[in-house]
Amino acid sequence: MATIDDVLAKIDANQTAALDRLFSLLSIPSVSTDPARAADCLRAADWLVGELKGLGFEISRRETDGKPMVVGHAKGARRDAPHVLFYGHYDVQPAEPLELWEKPPFEPRLVDAPTGQRIVGRGACDDKGQLMTFVEACRAFRETGGLPCDVSVLFEGEEEIGSPSLPGFMAKNAKELKADVMLVCDTAMWDRATPAITTMLRGLLYEEVILRGANRDLHSGLFGGAAINPIRVLSRILADLHDENGAVTLPGFYEGVDELPEEIAAQWRELDFNEEAFLADVGLSAPAGEKGRSVLEMIWSRPTCEINGIVGGFTGEGSKTVLPAEARAKVSFRLVGRQNPDKISQSFRDFVEERLPADVKAEFIGHASSPAISVATKSEALRRARRALESEWSKPALLIGSGGSIPIVGAFKRELNMDALLIGFSLDDDRAHSPNEKYERSSFHKGARSWARILAALAA
Ligand code: BES
Ligand code: MN
Ligand code: MN
Repeated sequence: MATIDDVLAKIDANQTAALDRLFSLLSIPSVSTDPARAADCLRAADWLVGELKGLGFEISRRETDGKPMVVGHAKGARRDAPHVLFYGHYDVQPAEPLELWEKPPFEPRLVDAPTGQRIVGRGACDDKGQLMTFVEACRAFRETGGLPCDVSVLFEGEEEIGSPSLPGFMAKNAKELKADVMLVCDTAMWDRATPAITTMLRGLLYEEVILRGANRDLHSGLFGGAAINPIRVLSRILADLHDENGAVTLPGFYEGVDELPEEIAAQWRELDFNEEAFLADVGLSAPAGEKGRSVLEMIWSRPTCEINGIVGGFTGEGSKTVLPAEARAKVSFRLVGRQNPDKISQSFRDFVEERLPADVKAEFIGHASSPAISVATKSEALRRARRALESEWSKPALLIGSGGSIPIVGAFKRELNMDALLIGFSLDDDRAHSPNEKYERSSFHKGARSWARILAALAA
């Protein structure tokens, strides 16, 4: 049997080729929300199938009503070791606005920066670079004698649109997907030098509302005053969603939201988070959430309501005196604790309906919906992973929360009773979902080394 040092040395030796492999995946524009990119999503799925076949996985593309899943299995040396299921997503967010990219988003490249080299391109950190850290660890094991434990992989292509096909796929393939522990590489480190395990993720409810008034757009002089304006109605409703203290006003919204247990609050105080620097990095100076809460609470443990987009009327160059027939908004809620997305969806729709004047009708479209997640912090797997991270980074791994959402983690817990280890190597300044998305070369390299150590530690 190869030692862990052999496996790590293999990862070091493979670095250049590993970057080439990541770059070929990054150059596929697998934007899940864009129908014009459907064929590219298939290409990305096929690319992963080919890659893992080469590593000895029994793997295939599995069709769904949406984008295909990629599911594979490989046997490991130790029969008594836990069987792990690794999850990642091959889809990416749209790259627009393209003019803000320094180089085209799907032409990945290495860029020199004062802190080291970075990999720039859409999907660099979310999630192609991250998922390839695990794949590269598997490769190094393969090239030094084999995996230490049974490994299954599940790559999906719809994470960025709320994983609509995953619950059905999971129900149909429960037996095949069931493993002892789920590994997810789609979260952040604490900072560039400090590894972290994420133990809390917020849930997400995403609603779209369309208000309609007159049967067509009108002359705002000839009809203005007499005709209802749906943008005005919508603005008032949206403005009503928060009170003057920044709290959300939907009835029942805070049901299931608990104060942070003292143990976790104490852990977070230890983290010594710099609120000013966090905001200054994005050009801001004053926290804008619920009054009386720390910034870490605002992003990790408190629920929010955000208006993500609002459209209506004339938005082109110049001016047009129009009284619009329609107004629409995209509104999303980050959820914590035991908040129930279905109840909040109903409460939001009632809230809108109750405020509609005569002649205005609302239509609702539900997008993503998933509750918050918290991971058991006392498991043996977590303890081992934490030690493995510490040996790679020479710093203890912190237990952190995150404001983001990965809807499937909760589904795996509920349906297959699988606990997840959320371990990722992205940084807050990686520009996930934004132009010039990047992943530190050190995250990519040391991420792969971290997974090698974690797999070895879980199997030991
Ligand atoms: N990887 C992110 C979520 C994330 C990022 C969690 C950093 C923790 C740290 C994921 O790809 C994502 O963007 N999720 C979406 C949810 C989805 C339903 C669109 C999100 O959080 O907005
Ligand atoms: Mn992601
Ligand atoms: Mn994302």
